[in-house]
Amino acid sequence: MRILGIESSCDETAAAVVEDGKTILSSSVASQMDVHQKYGGVVPELASREHVRAIVPVVREALGELEIDAIAVTQGPGLLGSLLVGVTYAKALAMAKGLPLIGVHHLEGHIEAALLGVELEYPALALVASGGHTHLFECLSPGAYRLEGKTRDDAAGEAYDKVAKLLGFGYPGGPVLDALAQHGNPRAVRFTSPRMKGNDSDFSFSGLKTAMLRWTEARDVSAAIATRKGLRNASIEDWLQLTDQETLDVIASFQHTVIEELLNRAGKAAERIGAKALVISGGVAANRGLRRAVELRKWPMPVYFPATKWSTDNGVMIALAGYARWKRGGISDLSLQPKANLPLQG
Ligand code: KG4
Ligand code: ZN
Repeated sequence: MRILGIESSCDETAAAVVEDGKTILSSSVASQMDVHQKYGGVVPELASREHVRAIVPVVREALGELEIDAIAVTQGPGLLGSLLVGVTYAKALAMAKGLPLIGVHHLEGHIEAALLGVELEYPALALVASGGHTHLFECLSPGAYRLEGKTRDDAAGEAYDKVAKLLGFGYPGGPVLDALAQHGNPRAVRFTSPRMKGNDSDFSFSGLKTAMLRWTEARDVSAAIATRKGLRNASIEDWLQLTDQETLDVIASFQHTVIEELLNRAGKAAERIGAKALVISGGVAANRGLRRAVELRKWPMPVYFPATKWSTDNGVMIALAGYARWKRGGISDLSLQPKANLPLQG
């Protein structure tokens, strides 16, 4: 069973072909980073236009000479105008080739990316942390999810992006801050952990973002921020040269706080539900500090991450989730509509 997976929910146009939910035959990703960089975040209107430009070459590159049996596409959640490009293209291709169409939930894609070659034991707990989501799901059985908790304000990746913008580093913020954090002292600045009244499995990152803003306001760092803002396409070495030790320390402390929040709340939730496995996925799962922190802790269950390159948005994860849905009989028809707010549970 060869499935073409198409992803266009945010700022990556991606496609991949995966065989029997395990063998990756091709993958193509067109990133729009350069387009959104100067705005410090994704501009929805520009994103849609870039998807329109990229969808044909990206799918063509992934398909090559490969024969396929079905087409999976991200139905939601995401930016409506962006989703529409992938869904419309997938429908047209399915009709032209006379192939089944499978609508996929973006977050199930992230979860499935971590389960490549894994036989998951249930119940499991999945932490999905990306630019748009920071959610904990209890995985009850294949395809059955219960929302255990989620962020009440910013997503973890969004916090990275906003703090990077604040400090004058480009978009996306995660990879840059992750690299710079390796050069700072994670215990230099203490940030408080928010109290989550009502649900200990919820997250909040807006207080941390505000604390970072206050930190910059209290120091004479505006000239350095302005210099960094003027720099485009900088390498990590360039950023390092333009960042003083005190700023590196606060970045390392910020990253340390995000990691502790994610792992402490996920760990407690996993214990509460008696999880037999913990899955950590989404763009933030690419974080080196997070992966190291997981290795350093003792876990009573196996912890699964996607390969780093399948952590951020890609077509492989959509093809994998498509295969999982297809096995459950989840074929869509040509009336499939994109949904900006598509729930995973239920
Ligand atoms: O899953 P993804 O590609 O797109 C969404 O579904 O949102 O995640 C993108 C997010 C961005 O906010 C980006 O800054 C963050 O993931 N990210 C990281 C790292 N790499 C990407 N965050 C922390 N550390 C990283 N190494
Ligand atoms: Zn994503």
